[in-house]
Amino acid sequence: MYPENSLEDAVQRLIERRTVKVIHMLEPGPSDEQMQKILQAAIRVPDHGKLAPWRFIEFSGDARTAFGEVLGRCFQTQKPDATQAQIAHEQARFERAPNVIAVISRVKYEHKIPVWEQTLSAGAACQNLLVAANLMGFTAQWLTEWYAYDKGVDEALGLVEGERVAGYLYIGSAAERPQERARAELSEVHSHWSN
Ligand SMILES: Cc1cc2nc3c(=O)[nH]c(=O)nc-3n(C[C@H](O)[C@H](O)[C@H](O)COP(=O)(O)O)c2cc1C
Repeated sequence: MYPENSLEDAVQRLIERRTVKVIHMLEPGPSDEQMQKILQAAIRVPDHGKLAPWRFIEFSGDARTAFGEVLGRCFQTQKPDATQAQIAHEQARFERAPNVIAVISRVKYEHKIPVWEQTLSAGAACQNLLVAANLMGFTAQWLTEWYAYDKGVDEALGLVEGERVAGYLYIGSAAERPQERARAELSEVHSHWSN
């Protein structure tokens, strides 16, 4: 029998999973060793064609502050009338959590594996990362915000043709337990096919 053990607790964690918003995140974030594990889980996703259609850029410590220069500059390009306070707010985005992982979707266009499938694999990597962080006792939020859709930010991240940001995964410790929020009713989204 494989797998040998059921992990009912892990499934229960998934059923009860809730995002803790980045504004409610505190130190500590994962140690380097813990982050390696989280990322190992992130790359263990279904990947049709063994293309590894994702990569990960980590921001921790001072790098979060340093990248604020890019965020502030790109925000100003988008919004030339922005106030200093608004720019400062944008510059500090990555400082809201101990660690930020930019998950980059990277697709091969001229390939027999459809781009759709390659893209889905990057989404799965984001979710595995989120779940792995949760199972290790951290909280995580999957955000895109404006800077997942900005050419200047893409350039500063070193993205090349076929690459785009799938999400910024903010990881830290939860300051509080989040309240439940409205969820889809399983009965509304689940059906049995019959002819
Ligand atoms: C691809 C993707 C991008 C998201 N981007 C944002 C975002 O920019 N801002 C935001 O408030 N929530 C965003 N979310 C939603 C949050 O990650 C989170 O799911 C939401 O706060 C609801 O919490 P829950 O995960 O407990 O349902 C995004 C979710 C996904 C899947």
